[in-house]
Amino acid sequence: MRALSSLLVLVAVPAALAVKTQDFKTCTQAAFCRRGRALSARAQENPSWSSPYSIDPSTISVLPGQASFTAGVKSLLYPDVKFGLDVRVHKDGVVRVRMDEVNGLRKHYDEAASWALIAEPDISPEIKWSVGKSDVRAVYGDKKDIEVVVAFQPLKVTLLRDGKEQVVLNGRGLLHMEHFRTKESAEEKLPVEQPQGDDSQVVMQVNSRAWFEGETEDGYWEEQFGSWTDTKPKGPESLSIDISFPNHGHVYGIPQHATRLSLPTTTGENAFYSEPYRLYNADVFEYLADSTMSLYGSIPVMHAHSAASTVAIFNAVGSETWIDVAHPTPRSTETHWISESGILDVFLMPGSTPADVFGQYTRLTGTPALPAHWALAYHQCRWNYVSSDDVRDVQRRFDLEDMPVDVFWLDIEYAEEHKYFIWDKKYFPDPVDMTRDVEAVGRKMVVIVDPHLKRAASYPVYQEAQERGVLVKSPGGSNDYEGWCWSGSAAWVDGFNPESWDWWTSLFKTAPQGDKWTWTESTVDTYIWNDMNEPSVFNGPEISMPRDNVHYGGWEHRDVHNINGMLFHNMTFQALKARSDPPKRPFVLTRSFYAGSQRFGAMWTGDNLGTWEHMAVGVRMVLANNIGGFSFAGSDVGGFFGNPEPEMLVRWYEVGIFSPFFRAHAHIDTKRREPYLLDEPYKGIIRSLLRLRYSMLPVWYTAFREASVTGLPVLRPHYVAFPHDEAGFALDDQYFVGSSGLLVKPICEKGATETSVYLPDDQVYYDYFNHYAYRGAAKGKHVTVPAELEKVPLLIRGGSIISTRERPRRSSPLMKYDPFTLRVALNAAGEAHGELYLDDGVTFSHQDGQFIWREFVATSDKKARGVRISSRNLAAQKPSEAVDGVALATYDIANSFVKEMLGVRVERVVVFGLASKPNKVQAGGRDLYWEFTPGVTASEKRQGTTSVLVVKDPDLSVTSDWEIVVQT
Ligand code: GLC
Repeated sequence: MRALSSLLVLVAVPAALAVKTQDFKTCTQAAFCRRGRALSARAQENPSWSSPYSIDPSTISVLPGQASFTAGVKSLLYPDVKFGLDVRVHKDGVVRVRMDEVNGLRKHYDEAASWALIAEPDISPEIKWSVGKSDVRAVYGDKKDIEVVVAFQPLKVTLLRDGKEQVVLNGRGLLHMEHFRTKESAEEKLPVEQPQGDDSQVVMQVNSRAWFEGETEDGYWEEQFGSWTDTKPKGPESLSIDISFPNHGHVYGIPQHATRLSLPTTTGENAFYSEPYRLYNADVFEYLADSTMSLYGSIPVMHAHSAASTVAIFNAVGSETWIDVAHPTPRSTETHWISESGILDVFLMPGSTPADVFGQYTRLTGTPALPAHWALAYHQCRWNYVSSDDVRDVQRRFDLEDMPVDVFWLDIEYAEEHKYFIWDKKYFPDPVDMTRDVEAVGRKMVVIVDPHLKRAASYPVYQEAQERGVLVKSPGGSNDYEGWCWSGSAAWVDGFNPESWDWWTSLFKTAPQGDKWTWTESTVDTYIWNDMNEPSVFNGPEISMPRDNVHYGGWEHRDVHNINGMLFHNMTFQALKARSDPPKRPFVLTRSFYAGSQRFGAMWTGDNLGTWEHMAVGVRMVLANNIGGFSFAGSDVGGFFGNPEPEMLVRWYEVGIFSPFFRAHAHIDTKRREPYLLDEPYKGIIRSLLRLRYSMLPVWYTAFREASVTGLPVLRPHYVAFPHDEAGFALDDQYFVGSSGLLVKPICEKGATETSVYLPDDQVYYDYFNHYAYRGAAKGKHVTVPAELEKVPLLIRGGSIISTRERPRRSSPLMKYDPFTLRVALNAAGEAHGELYLDDGVTFSHQDGQFIWREFVATSDKKARGVRISSRNLAAQKPSEAVDGVALATYDIANSFVKEMLGVRVERVVVFGLASKPNKVQAGGRDLYWEFTPGVTASEKRQGTTSVLVVKDPDLSVTSDWEIVVQT
């Protein structure tokens, strides 16, 4: 009985509780967070509190050309400590606010932005700062509707639009940059004199350092966590800043957390969470599905949104950061950011739409790289495929079952003793032949390379790293740091050391290079998976590196921790790009990331659990990543831990086929679960799902291409797609794919047969599979959509044209010359629009104009009482649009890619919602074959199965201009 009841308990407790929360700090266990939160609490209790930081007006200097202004800042509490402020407005209206200690005892880390930014942004030439008695201000923008005001006493920065506050820095007085001090000179916490003068506003009610900084030197010089001591040789240096959005009731972003998209509160009355959101890249074993805990990556970017406007901030800090969120009223948001080290370097993005904000952030940190086309197809991974023959067998079984797959992955067991690059010849005797077998049908291999190098004399990669002095150092900076990871005793490549870059690049060369070690046992189509790059250190504090470890330039690990993973990812990206000439587009998957990581590849949400909660939160996490500018994201299909039942596995594939990055993966202890192993009907359902993903690759690729040009995300939650529709602001279980008009709601619950989908506008939405027409309403409306196991709820918004390729193939490269189907989903006005982007999918020739970019337009033709559907060349209309951040000089309509694709046809055009049966369908005067099934029309208010016109083989090229005329 006892055994049984304990078993029951085991079953009842969600597996998610397995996370070892004790391995990771709470705010109260991090001294600087404790100090920052305590200051906030004291300030809250004392309403007349005001910030001790102020600008000394006599130090204001407007730089020539008005590019920016600088000013001296001081704190009432430390009159001898000086700070310098620099405020500038970029060409696109972004305001950058920087503050650092001047002539301090040491330097605060000031390089975070230089890793995140693509370049030093251009300063606006139109700004004219006007220096007044109590503030400096500038009005700008096309309509002169934006104003930035920097108040002197106390220091406060406000960004306004149409006179309404959008973002306020230090409005609550929580700005505090702990200045460097010596342990010996521990300053007395004496009361400070009241400021002189009759400006009663600035008289501080609370007037002592002890009040401001706390009674004791809490964790200033040393800190303990578990058995670890952080020696803190630099003493306290934390940074606190409050950032408020007085007119915005929703905030989003700051990935990575397993939480809702619209971030729940962490302080204030009825706070949803008690802990602030934490950004400290960490390898969290069996993480919680609903928590503010840190995960593997950090993007310190937050959107604030209301029906009136969207604004955003990017806080360029690389150290551990905690963020409190509160809504003092339902329509306003206060946040408080507490960082362990670094300068203040905050970018205020004025919006005013979500699209504007994405553009502004992209101009700072870069557009997402346009992935190789195959990288959007299906990836099959497992820890581990155990031998070359295992890989071949998995490939064979996919082919036997007619299941498309593009990529096979090898986890750490391919490497002898986990020495990355070195094949374990016992199991992988013929790595190049194996890879070539996979490549034979256009497939690729992805192989894992982690940043920890086994400390073994026989490991050439470690030996070279050691000789070149490119390893991270222990505290003090003299010895190479040693820690534990998969390989046992290991050392870590220091990506901050410029010497490490060329060396890392050289390792990936597939041809011998003199006496240098190179990976001759790989091919130019072997791609890379970078894991454990937080970095994960099994025997380190919080499963990572000691913060007092030393990187290149003498910076401590604490200063750069959150940037570390991005550098490793970037290094591998550069290495793959340099591997062949002309280069192929790299594919590198990373677990850890920072602002700017979108330039280097894909990420996934790490070690999720095979539970419905994890499936659901994975969708939200991928959406949040898209908000953080990093669209190429996905979660392990199937769940990393556990053995999902077939129903769950099917649903997980449904999530996967609508994720930007689509990979199945599983822990070494799980049962094999490749889709061909399932029984019917599950196997058949997954085959159809895989084929659906492959048929929609043109939609995904077009969305990625748009992201790579504009920074608009591939997945768009409702507030992005319909920014004025309040009812959609908290929605995070359904979303749109790019600009395609596809609305998806993956099912993340057991036993569902239908679901409620929210339609945001007065528009018709067609069920992708059964052509049922649903009607939205101006104020938004919920409709019930069937969702049996084989049917992921997928609607096409009226007004969209979707391009697909529907020939089942073994891999996506085999689809290169396949014909297209166009689904024309008419809106109530009888119109529709869609785009299709194509290029070779592999090289960078698209940057030289080798691509096809079509616009399909359906217009209602009153004269013919029908519809005209035409294909136009969009590239000719927007010739100067940048691709992948590179501006195109020219676009030649007859470029060689277009020539190669001349024979690629549109084989079918399907029109939903036509008003009545056509009497003629023609292209260029030719009669076309067609079939019409009557039904509900686009302009009716009725719901029901829609009318469908199928135009068969109109014999039109996807490369040329044409027009189909449908006369009714
Ligand atoms: C980490 C990764 C996981 C991988 C494993 C072994 O746990 O997150 O995906 O399979 O390491 O490399």
